[in-house]
Amino acid sequence: MKRILIDLFFSSTLCFAVNAQNAKPLLPPGEKWKDDKGNFINAHGAGVLFYNGAYYLYGEIKKGKTRLVPNQSWEDYRVEAGGISCYSSKDLLHWKYQAIALAADKTDPLSDIHASKVIERPKVIYNERTKQFVMWMHIDKEDYSYAHAGVAVSSKPKGPYKYISSIRPNGQMSRDMTIFKDDNGKAYLIYASENNNTMQICLLSDDYLSPTKKYIRILENQRREAPAMFKHEGKYYLITSLCSGWDANPAGYAVADSVMGEWKQMGNPCLGKDSATTFHSQSTYVLPLDGKKGSFIFMADRWNKLDLEDSRYIWLLLHVNHGRVEINN
Ligand code: DGJ
Repeated sequence: MKRILIDLFFSSTLCFAVNAQNAKPLLPPGEKWKDDKGNFINAHGAGVLFYNGAYYLYGEIKKGKTRLVPNQSWEDYRVEAGGISCYSSKDLLHWKYQAIALAADKTDPLSDIHASKVIERPKVIYNERTKQFVMWMHIDKEDYSYAHAGVAVSSKPKGPYKYISSIRPNGQMSRDMTIFKDDNGKAYLIYASENNNTMQICLLSDDYLSPTKKYIRILENQRREAPAMFKHEGKYYLITSLCSGWDANPAGYAVADSVMGEWKQMGNPCLGKDSATTFHSQSTYVLPLDGKKGSFIFMADRWNKLDLEDSRYIWLLLHVNHGRVEINN
């Protein structure tokens, strides 16, 4: 098929391959994406920070043998926590390996970030006041009973990040999570809480290092996880998945006029074939390309539960069309 590279969005370097039917990200969905060194990009449950003209990708390092944790009522497949990786790119197509942004602890089994623990879904935002890069992540025990949100900080985007501590915000469980930073500098932690039954949104302190007492409960008893929030034309959108371990399920989205609600559920944003499984993947982040045009990249993980290291990524174009979120494969 003939492919033409065009400058589709705001950046002269951001190229998408276009065919006659529709526009698709050049990085081929579900294939093995390589970094500048020829190694497979190891950044699962990832998020992106745009800083100083470059995109920084942060994700879970999954390396080693996948095993099934015994005596669980669900399929608790896991690999040792490898820490958090960082890659950078100017065009979202070519990714340069930067560093291990947050290394797993190999010596202290009591540490939150010991390799025996769960370190998932890292998201990084920059705090203009403190000039610090702040990383939040899901911290757990291998049976997922700990349900904490962890925070780490660095003066450089690629780290190394210094792990500070973890918390249950306002005493509430926190598992799958994301961070959203609004245009006014306020930042929020969004997390699956109450045994994954109900999502919560909590305003962070001005330095982004701790939760405030201000929080709301949303999507009550809906069993949603994998939150990814974005803003378009003054409205806030939250994409989530259902709760089915590493297995794919239908995405859903909600919309609100304010981060602190009220949130209205809108249904599945995915269209066409395989929309019932989010194209065999699970949401992790929505990256704005051009707020004005309503174009975003929907970033998702295609988990391989039997070999988590070989989990793949799919990044698809997301459009907001008259207030409706649409993701096409
Ligand atoms: C689904 C979550 O979205 C993932 O981040 C991970 O925690 C798995 N569950 C574990 O089974």
